[in-house]
Amino acid sequence: MSTADSQKNQVIEDIVKVPQHVAIIMDGNGRWAQLRGKKRVVGHKSGVESVRSSVSAAAKHGVKALTLFAFSSENWQRPEKEVSVLMDLFMFVLTREVKRLHKNGIKFSVIGDLSKFSSKLQKMISDSEALTANNTGMVLSIAANYGGRWDITHAAKKLAEQVVKQEITVKDITEESLHEQTSLAELPELDLLIRTGGDFRISNFLLWQAAYAEFYFTDVLWPDFNEEEFTKAITQFDLRERRFGQTGEQVTNN
Ligand code: IPE
Ligand code: IPE
Ligand code: MG
Repeated sequence: MSTADSQKNQVIEDIVKVPQHVAIIMDGNGRWAQLRGKKRVVGHKSGVESVRSSVSAAAKHGVKALTLFAFSSENWQRPEKEVSVLMDLFMFVLTREVKRLHKNGIKFSVIGDLSKFSSKLQKMISDSEALTANNTGMVLSIAANYGGRWDITHAAKKLAEQVVKQEITVKDITEESLHEQTSLAELPELDLLIRTGGDFRISNFLLWQAAYAEFYFTDVLWPDFNEEEFTKAITQFDLRERRFGQTGEQVTNN
């Protein structure tokens, strides 16, 4: 092992509190390309390598679940050409990467309203999910045509349907039962939400799930994000005091 590698491993071992569930708003592809005088789509293509590095870094750190925001429900409003390149890229990456994820024991899933995607893409998604369904390693969820408001509305509709069918009553609508109907409910609570690209907003990502997540914002543009940057975010998380409404003293004495 090289000195650099052993130093990296030391950093990983020194982190005490590893987040169980990390989500990333992968932002800044367009600006990354424009800064280099290239078309925005070049940035999207370069961003694929950062996805690979993040998956690998998360797995190395022992993160249980990684959720990546790939395409928001608002991103349909982009120029048609850009949307279509993004869809093609998604399909290309699926075909190329899922086998590798499977080999590494990663369970793959896609969250969001998939009904808007072509039937070809929908089939590729369900085949990929089926292939990796029994894997016991990290869970990688890709949010595609996802919106936090859609997620909550969808969950509310599910409960309303159960009321109509008289399977439950209005009294059974609780934070827990609504939570169960939201995306990612089967995973550990979201601990850390990273946003690259320098903006300080959530852009309709995991609104329900981020209730007590720690936020980490970085100016690094997504195609420049790598294992080292991921480790920086995890290291920051390790330093945070999560109080969940309690006082600092209570947390220290617990
Ligand atoms: C994020 O990068 C990728 C998607 C939203 C699909 P952007 O394309 O938003 O890049 P910027 O923010 O314009 O630089
Ligand atoms: C958020 O980025 C969505 C994804 C990263 C997929 P945007 O670039 O769409 O967010 P806004 O429009 O700047 O809020
Ligand atoms: Mg953006």
